[in-house]
Amino acid sequence: MSVADEIKSRLDIVDYIQRYVPLKRAGKSYKACCPWHSEKTPSFHVDPDRQSFRCFGACATGGDVITFAMRHHGWSFGEALQELGKITGVEVEKQTPQQRQQSERLDVLRGLMHTAADAYHNALLDPKVERQPEVLRYTREKRGFSDATITQFKIGYAPPGWTNMMDHLKTLGYDEAQMIEVGLAIKNEDTGRVYDRFRNRLMIPIRDDRGRIIGFGARALADEDKPKYLNSPQTPLFDKSRTLFGLDMAKATIRESETAVIVEGYMDVIQAHQAGFKNVVAQMGTAMTETQLRALTRSAKRIVLALDADAAGQSATRRSLETARQTLQSDFGGRLSVDIRVLQIPGAKDPDDLIRETPEQWTELVAQAMPVAEYVIEMETSALPPNATVQEREAVARSLLPILMASEDKLYTRDNLQKLALRLRIAERDLLAWAEEQARIDAARKPRSGASVGAQHAAPVQNIGNDTISPEPPPLDDEALASASVYIDEDELVYQPPSLPSKEEQSQRAVQPMRRIGTVREAAMEVQCLRVLFREPMAYYVVNRKLREIAKDDRRLIEGPLAEWCAEDFSQPDSRALMQAFVTALLQDELDPLDYLRLQADIALQPHLDVILADDLDRIKGRVKNTSPAQLEVVYSRVGKSFEDEMNAELTPRVLELRLERLKREREELSFRQLEAQTSGDEDALAQYGNMIFLTNQARQLLDSNLQELKNSTRK
Ligand code: UTP
Ligand code: MN
Repeated sequence: MSVADEIKSRLDIVDYIQRYVPLKRAGKSYKACCPWHSEKTPSFHVDPDRQSFRCFGACATGGDVITFAMRHHGWSFGEALQELGKITGVEVEKQTPQQRQQSERLDVLRGLMHTAADAYHNALLDPKVERQPEVLRYTREKRGFSDATITQFKIGYAPPGWTNMMDHLKTLGYDEAQMIEVGLAIKNEDTGRVYDRFRNRLMIPIRDDRGRIIGFGARALADEDKPKYLNSPQTPLFDKSRTLFGLDMAKATIRESETAVIVEGYMDVIQAHQAGFKNVVAQMGTAMTETQLRALTRSAKRIVLALDADAAGQSATRRSLETARQTLQSDFGGRLSVDIRVLQIPGAKDPDDLIRETPEQWTELVAQAMPVAEYVIEMETSALPPNATVQEREAVARSLLPILMASEDKLYTRDNLQKLALRLRIAERDLLAWAEEQARIDAARKPRSGASVGAQHAAPVQNIGNDTISPEPPPLDDEALASASVYIDEDELVYQPPSLPSKEEQSQRAVQPMRRIGTVREAAMEVQCLRVLFREPMAYYVVNRKLREIAKDDRRLIEGPLAEWCAEDFSQPDSRALMQAFVTALLQDELDPLDYLRLQADIALQPHLDVILADDLDRIKGRVKNTSPAQLEVVYSRVGKSFEDEMNAELTPRVLELRLERLKREREELSFRQLEAQTSGDEDALAQYGNMIFLTNQARQLLDSNLQELKNSTRK
């Protein structure tokens, strides 16, 4: 039994939640007003049989006792295990001798970092140190930091000179290898010389979320010194992509105010905290990563991005928003589980400048931050030239729709769609059709984004960018091993600006998770399926009906591995793209689906389409002429049983076989990801993948037996 299971078996969820939330019995379960959002009628349910809770109201979260503890206390998974372990008497630290050795080694390195930080700090305050008065004056006057702030953040000074820090550390018994390992010293590989990394810089210690110093951001003091900020490299203690500067000090306020503000730099954070805005953290000059985001969503319901308005800041904002969408788009209707807003500072100021000049304006700006949908519309449409082509405008629309859909309640009823339509001169109807197309793709992808276990900590990142994992996993310390977050390289999260992808590229991007190219047999089967489908578009409904029947109304299957027939069932890019186009064709009701398909299919796809349609076109067109999708369903219901039987003999078995192949591929990928999660000790992801594998296996068995049945019945 895993530690988590052990804890769950000993800790009754009702008993535990009762400590924090006044539960009332309601039949077999318990109810209360949700502790995380204000409401009058109780929508927070605890089910003792399943040992789970769920809020059916605004926050729509749920999970087990560990999830509850994480959410309620703002703990990481590792912290929750620790704390609940104490209550239940479950031994959480079951370290192997190697692990113990490793964590002791890391403790030594942490000690080294603290020692160094103390030394830098002392140097800033010691008038005997070279040029100290000047630097202290800079810190107080130019940067506007009070002495209390200098102490609180332990700001320091690395004087000029090549070996000051090394000499100091050596007298304390540390060796060069350790100094190099934590990034305080550098070894020149040619000469073998070892020297201090930080010279003549203002030193800002970077801490992990528990306040332990793990790195430094070092600001140049001379204009000619480049870079402006020299940061610690990646070390066993420091991983920039996992760290948010200031989080240790901001945690409590973020939890209380349920709002986190993300700024770009160290100075912005320090200035904000000094002015009393203590829910501010920084992503240290890069776009936000999944890990960083998850660290915040444990306690924040609203995240305000306050990044610089310059081009770099805008692109970082874009990338951060895209990360947010991919990370936080919950299972609940595809909505973002956190309210994300964008704060724009007027003029070319950064938060540091603004807070020093007009602190009262900061509160106002945070309160008025723009909802993400409005922001992206504003941003992307204003970047378009007035004479942009239809294709350019469509590309922008398509790139915006996912985030609009994720952040809007009902796309239809809101102004934003209209605004976008006006700005892009594209009919609202078209926008809606694309949005629905996207929604379908997302729905088909659902099994990958995880079964619904509570949006807050579930869904590990997937399908993002490329399929390679970093060959060398980053060094993880003991807590990291137990923590719930998944390491993901920022480079995998790079936002794709609207760059005019071709239709084909778009549909391929939409279904990109397909990695292994299928067999020749599969390819041939795919063409056959499309041929039947294009001849008899109504067959689409027959197949989907069969899939639902096989799923026996199990929503997890219907929304997961037994979802509607879609592009992802095809292994060949061309067929996949055509299937995508077909599904889109069904969503519009202006044109005959096949005419639409012909029009929409990219030039590159025409030959493939011709192969599939061969000389049947006229016959086919006669058959479905001028029928809208709604009508198609009606026609289909009239054609009735014999048509259904025919399709079930001819087409359905092939589609089921293709689905089986697809699930096999996905299964492989899942095992692979499971292994990854195991290696990184990510219990949450592990459970998640376990769950998905279970569902996939279940679906495969069901498909298999149904396939046999179908084959037997046609033989008779
Ligand atoms: P900025 O250049 O906006 O810095 O970089 P700033 O905070 O306004 O700095 P001052 O006010 O001129 O001193 C924002 C953040 O980007 C990262 C740092 O984390 C910095 O706080 N950065 C910037 C680097 O890592 N290296 C650099 O060379 C520059
Ligand atoms: Mn600045």
